Amino acid sequence: MIQNNSTEASADGIDLSTASLADPEILAHPNAFYAAMRKDDAVHYDKNLDMYLISRYEDLQTVLRDPITFSVKKGFAEQYAKGFLKEYKEILERDGGGFFVNAIMTDPPEHTRVRRLLDSAFTAHRVKTLQPEITNIAVDLVEKLLAKGEGEVFSEFAMPMTSRIICKQLGVDLPSATVQRWALALTQQISRMQSREDMLRAAKDVCDLQNFLLAEIKDRQNSPPREDMISDLVHARLDDADQPTLGLDELVTLGVALLVAGNETTATALTTMFYIFATRPDIAATLRASLDDDRVVTRFVEELLRFDPPVRGITRMTTKDVEVGGVALPKGAHLLLLYASANDDDSEFDSPREFDMNRPNIGRHVSFGAGIHRCVGAALARMELKVAVREVLSRMDNIQLAIPNDEITYLPTVATHTIARLPLTFTRRG
Ligand code: HEM
Repeated sequence: MIQNNSTEASADGIDLSTASLADPEILAHPNAFYAAMRKDDAVHYDKNLDMYLISRYEDLQTVLRDPITFSVKKGFAEQYAKGFLKEYKEILERDGGGFFVNAIMTDPPEHTRVRRLLDSAFTAHRVKTLQPEITNIAVDLVEKLLAKGEGEVFSEFAMPMTSRIICKQLGVDLPSATVQRWALALTQQISRMQSREDMLRAAKDVCDLQNFLLAEIKDRQNSPPREDMISDLVHARLDDADQPTLGLDELVTLGVALLVAGNETTATALTTMFYIFATRPDIAATLRASLDDDRVVTRFVEELLRFDPPVRGITRMTTKDVEVGGVALPKGAHLLLLYASANDDDSEFDSPREFDMNRPNIGRHVSFGAGIHRCVGAALARMELKVAVREVLSRMDNIQLAIPNDEITYLPTVATHTIARLPLTFTRRG
């Protein structure tokens, strides 16, 4: 549950010697746990996860700025399909065209090669040209909801919006329910919370996703360049004399990253936006009065991202003995960078549990990360959120929860903070 501005998260009552982020209750309502760590044990070893949780803003910055000492590649490999990797790999090799090595969850210089390509695909300028299309999609989805007067906004608004936008960019045609299933199956692999049954179901979905992409890649390889991102990847020429084109591992995993990386994340932020509108009518009213003021809408979006970041934590692994926040970590230590806790750190943000669109350092949140792995899709995600704010609030009124607040559940994952289902009621604005 998102605490409102009268509820300060308190570290009291949390016993760090027994508490774990793997506890579903803590995963759903983590802020008191984060506060306890920042206060008493900022680089906390979580026994259940076998990970060091990095909780303070300053320590997160230290780690994010040094991608060589803190390896994404090693951290990701350790996290991925944890406990089931061998079986998961066998299934993908047998039924999904192969187990492809992720091309973006890597370290320099490997990372630099593909990162440049992705940056050029998502410049703020290019994203700006997408605004009319994004607006059409948002309007269509809001109108469909309004025709019913109620709806579950994660699957009926947030996921369809993000998947329609990215599918159009990639030049593929897929029902949003399929993209949603695939996205959740993939992000489940870094959740640390899946059972073997979950893994088997997800592996089947990931096979379907890979087989779909392999066919799309083959199609582009056999035709002249066209105006879509899969074609751009297939025909890209890189600044690398030894390997001037992308290999199959790179094509598949970048295609996967584009299709799914931005989906659950942006859909989570869109769902949290609705949650704020439903539970904080004062904020919705303030915004409604200023929808033409881009500065106000931008500030709302940034505070939304700071207050409840969709990406809670991503992993790293130390490549040598190193000290973080005064704690000596051995080489090979598995870390979880808690972006959500850094955003909640009162040494950086005054009264962090207040939703304050006027805070002076609003842009200093780390919801998109920092350093060389900073989110590629930040401009696109921000655009989608701003469009959604405008189209939802200009058309909808009386946005209310259709279930009691304490019945709202979150996806079981250490990687994101995602409302699983958000049924709402609303009326058309008169
Ligand atoms: C509100 C929405 C989003 C949030 C909160 C978010 C958050 C993040 C964060 C925190 C990272 C850094 C991970 C790290 O430190 O290792 C990241 C990386 C990334 N994001 Fe996003 N993201 C969002 C939307 C998107 C979108 C729309 C796309 C693409 C269509 C995207 C694609 C990526 C990719 C490819 C990376 C890997 C970058 C790298 O390692 O160099 N994200 N994102």
